[in-house]
Amino acid sequence: MNNKKLITMGEQFGRRSWAEPWKIKMVEPIRITSPQERRDALEKAGYNTFLLHSKDVYIDLLTDSGTGAMSDRQWAGIMLGDEAYAGSRNFFHLEEAVQKYYGYRYLVPTHQGRGAEHLLSQALIKPGQYVPGNMYFTTTRLHQELAGGTFVDVIIDEAHDPPNLHPFKGNVDLDKLEALVKRVGAESIPYISLAGTVNMAGGQPVSMANVKALRALCDRYSIPIYLDATRMVENAFFIQEREEGYKDKTIAAILQEFCSFTDGAWMSAKKDNLVNIGGWLAVNDSDLFDALRNMVVIYEGLHTYGGMAGRDMEALAIGITEAVDDDHVRSRVEQVRYLGNLLTNWEIPIVKPVGGHAIFLDAKSFYPHIPQDQFPAQTLAAGLYLDSGIRGMERGIVSAGRDPKTGDHRYPALELTRLAIPRRVYTQAHMDVVAEAVKAVYDSREQTKGLKMVYEPKYLRFFQARFERAS
Ligand code: F0G
Repeated sequence: MNNKKLITMGEQFGRRSWAEPWKIKMVEPIRITSPQERRDALEKAGYNTFLLHSKDVYIDLLTDSGTGAMSDRQWAGIMLGDEAYAGSRNFFHLEEAVQKYYGYRYLVPTHQGRGAEHLLSQALIKPGQYVPGNMYFTTTRLHQELAGGTFVDVIIDEAHDPPNLHPFKGNVDLDKLEALVKRVGAESIPYISLAGTVNMAGGQPVSMANVKALRALCDRYSIPIYLDATRMVENAFFIQEREEGYKDKTIAAILQEFCSFTDGAWMSAKKDNLVNIGGWLAVNDSDLFDALRNMVVIYEGLHTYGGMAGRDMEALAIGITEAVDDDHVRSRVEQVRYLGNLLTNWEIPIVKPVGGHAIFLDAKSFYPHIPQDQFPAQTLAAGLYLDSGIRGMERGIVSAGRDPKTGDHRYPALELTRLAIPRRVYTQAHMDVVAEAVKAVYDSREQTKGLKMVYEPKYLRFFQARFERAS
């Protein structure tokens, strides 16, 4: 593995350019549609970008989940799949990779992140308990609620303020957390749900100082910390870049140090870990491991495959190794930042600082004339698709869902449209096209009308809800 810092031609000659540390071996054609085709497709999809067919999408920024490109080595690993039902050799490679880079003792494989969330929530949460975390994530909170818990947001206030330039907007507010512990009692808190980076806040990182202080606080009250490690490698990059004392440490070393302050982690391997499907759950507590290993056979598959094929586990083990390469992480985050800088230069309102995996357009600032219950961020995602066939995703009131007790919409402070960048898939030219499309939509913002919801599913409504143009 090459963990040397990349010295670019640009740096050598005093310019600040960078290039991807890979070249392209295989291409997948994409197609620009006509405005009429897009109008028809969007109407058929009920103005929900999740319901579009991918053949009708030009540049697909719906998610960075499972949409990355695997390397030649990972594809070679696919051919080494050991499809034994039990004890596949690929499982042991995966176990070794997680232990080596994340540092946890025991591994439970799952088919993807929410499979791991389900197991952990069911194993740890008792009805009536509270689960504090640094901002909710949709599937994470739902599994905590289905286990009878109530999620409590204890992220710092800066996270809810899009233009605020705090370098670690993912940090836990320790005062908010301690106030909760004092109010409900430590015995009512099964664990802290800590995410690095924080997806819904804009891919914002948690600092090493914060996780250290969190550990100290939790030790006082004997509360464990479980980490959503889905984008923790990107979090490590921000620590290397921004936190004193980490400039000369490798991403791998920072990742391991951060994880050492937590008791275990769950993973959607479809992001940082560079595979199209997969997940895992890793813990240090042997009793908890026994419980999880027993549960996984009910919901996912035997404890040596957890819903993945042997070949998937091999690609994942290799992906974990590639993911912590310093050059890879740097080029990944810098590509996101490149798009962010183009938009910022045009004074288009986005969440700042730009996070690790996506640009988040501030739909409230785009459309101050559209009330939140007419779905400004959903409107913006639809508008961007209509303009240019680029697909983003709503991360606002639709994603926030309804309060399970009152049945009312939850009104989140952040009303965002996310443009997530898949890993190792698009070029700088694609980013230029995206920036110009966002600008065109921004320039015509005043004429835009909101939406009304005409179909609403019970769970995770953003995936399947349908809308019409509000009159
Ligand atoms: N945690 C985080 C922070 C996530 O972003 C996701 C998925 C999950 C857990 C669940 O993992 O999808 O493998 O079951 N995020 C995707 C996204 C869907 O588009 O942000 P999963």
